[in-house]
Amino acid sequence: MKRVAILISGGGSNMLALLDSMEEAGHPATPCLVASNDPAAPGLERAAARGVATAAVDHRPFGRDRPAFEEELQKVIASHGADIVCLAGFMRVLTAGFVTQWSGRMLNIHPSLLPKYRGLHTHARALEAGEAEHGCTVHEVTPELDDGPILGQARVPVDPGDTPDSLAARVLVMEHRLYPAVLRRFAAGDRRPIWLS
Ligand code: GRF
Repeated sequence: MKRVAILISGGGSNMLALLDSMEEAGHPATPCLVASNDPAAPGLERAAARGVATAAVDHRPFGRDRPAFEEELQKVIASHGADIVCLAGFMRVLTAGFVTQWSGRMLNIHPSLLPKYRGLHTHARALEAGEAEHGCTVHEVTPELDDGPILGQARVPVDPGDTPDSLAARVLVMEHRLYPAVLRRFAAGDRRPIWLS
């Protein structure tokens, strides 16, 4: 049974989808921790309400010393015996040092069809570019931001009247389907990508 630590920064809707899916019979993984860089992240209470261990490692006291913050974060993750780390709305850039420790064992969900639209504000950028479709990607985390091997993608059509918020809401529904499907396959040792639409 693989033990999964989920890192969040906010509401954690993807985290909840992952927790719910790991309740399913025969799932090869179990959640061992939900941690956030923001002690006030609403997702922490939502995870605790489901009986999952939680932790907050506030990044602010560390200032610009990313390695010191990540050392603390690594201690917490390791102390809960995680085999896999899932970034789910985690809004801190991780250094190569941290990422290489988890090489091949850390996943992230990004709200675009990578390699398009790495970085932030992906929905507004897709609309500005006049894209006919958009979506989300689950990928292995490598030192290059939003760049690792793709483990799954889900596509949604862009509607004429879409705003960044309406498009984001449609993509988020697909995120909640894609990430659990990818984690279940990944935790079973299967790296074949999943394509949803
Ligand atoms: C989502 O857009 C997700 O793609 C990105 O963070 C946003 C919020 O996710 N990673 P969540 O509701 O906190 O899971």
